Amino acid sequence: MIYLDNAATTGRKPYSVINAVAAALREHSANPGRSGHSDSLRAASAVYAVREKTAAFFGASGPENVIFTLNCTQSLNTVIKGVLHKGDRAVTSSLEHNSVIRPLVKTGVQYETARVSLYDDRETLAEFERKIKYGTKLVICSGASNVLGKTLPIADIGALCRERGALFAVDAAQTAGVIPINMKEMNIDFLCAAPHKGLYAPMGLGVLICEKMPEDTLVEGGTGTNSLEPVQPDSMPERFESGTVALPAIMGMSAGIDYVNRIGMNKLYEHEMSLCRYLYRELAKIDRIELYTPEPSYGKYVPVLSFNVFGRDSSEIAQLLSDKGIAVRGGLHCAPSAHRQAGTLEKGMVRVSVASFNTQADIKSLVAAVKSILR
Ligand code: ALA
Repeated sequence: MIYLDNAATTGRKPYSVINAVAAALREHSANPGRSGHSDSLRAASAVYAVREKTAAFFGASGPENVIFTLNCTQSLNTVIKGVLHKGDRAVTSSLEHNSVIRPLVKTGVQYETARVSLYDDRETLAEFERKIKYGTKLVICSGASNVLGKTLPIADIGALCRERGALFAVDAAQTAGVIPINMKEMNIDFLCAAPHKGLYAPMGLGVLICEKMPEDTLVEGGTGTNSLEPVQPDSMPERFESGTVALPAIMGMSAGIDYVNRIGMNKLYEHEMSLCRYLYRELAKIDRIELYTPEPSYGKYVPVLSFNVFGRDSSEIAQLLSDKGIAVRGGLHCAPSAHRQAGTLEKGMVRVSVASFNTQADIKSLVAAVKSILR
């Protein structure tokens, strides 16, 4: 299979990640932070080292701010429901995934939507300036659209939030490990990440980094601390981390961070973007191909590119490509907002998403397959 569905999860994990998971299962099958025996303590210190590495990677204040969750959706729910209460006001963007929109709607708060320009970040910023008022409690938006690949001007939005006293949360599902994120420099209060994507970790692990403490918890239970108390402890990370953490996946993520650091995030990104740009130019030459963005440029896009074949449903094209051994994702990608903006709510889009292991030969095969479907 030529795997081009990396925005859903990176389809090939580096051997170092696979080996780290296997080593964790071999060497760390004791529950971290629960018992006093040496195996448990060793497991706890291995997990702590990954908190430190994760905090450093994302420019967070410290390891205790790093919370391990089940997935990025749980991280987002923890922030949205922990911070927002009836009567609060929030702002989000026009390209959000349902993992932001659904919890936001569930809180019952009033929220406004800033339209993201695919062409000019100054227009996007002006939209956020209009929507963020003094009294807005939380601004939450994705680092980049999982459908269109467009990045949002996170540092500028963060500065605006700081100026107007709003908390700032970023859904980094498509950007963590792909483009640089520095929470301190970008004024990000809450970062939600999906390590099984850009950090090549196993599925079943999410990251939430909190520079501020959400008021409410989403899940309560055993933390290995304050056990006599019938209420959650009020220190991080335990407050938001009840139950046993996914140690093998955490060790996999640690190796994934090392992999990205070793090769260099910029080098990986340039490689992936060059493939996306090549694909864009090849698709643009074909009659009956609909493209929805300008040619993706460095820094303004992540390696995610969606298209349609005129008059055909995206799921049908994705299926035909799958029959030819190419994995892409059709449909709405759980992000109807982005499709509403693009006018593709009915037919969806065929999404191609590239990772470090993809080659120009993969893209050539895809283009040839699209051409053969059109014949
Ligand atoms: N949110 C993931 C995607 O965009 C699953 O495919």
